[in-house]
Amino acid sequence: MRLPVVPPHNLVPKMPRKPDPKFVAVGRLDELPMNGTRAVVAEGQAIVLIRTPDKVFALRNACSHKGSALNGGWVEDGKIHCPLHGWAYALASGKCLSNKAKPVAVFPTRIVNDIIEVELELLMSRKS
Ligand code: FES
Repeated sequence: MRLPVVPPHNLVPKMPRKPDPKFVAVGRLDELPMNGTRAVVAEGQAIVLIRTPDKVFALRNACSHKGSALNGGWVEDGKIHCPLHGWAYALASGKCLSNKAKPVAVFPTRIVNDIIEVELELLMSRKS
């Protein structure tokens, strides 16, 4: 019995990366300054992108206090502070540190070839 010939790993052709329909591109990483924010709209959702040294975060761009946009707020220690009255939100969870009953939605992100992508399925499910 003959065993099938398996090519060495380095001879297996790399398949081009397929686009992932769950994620949507929302901007270039180099256009988002460190500890800066940027407002974007994806699938009709207002999102604020926030860049930290470790990660880019995406939160719904509406403060749960009076609805102000969060872009332009100040970012420090894993939090963003609303520019209008200063309510603070944890970037990783969206938990409101000023009123625990009023979190904001957080969307998973990833960076692909310096493009920031946000998970589309969660955007779609959180439209209401
Ligand atoms: S609107 Fe954001 S803290 Fe008041």
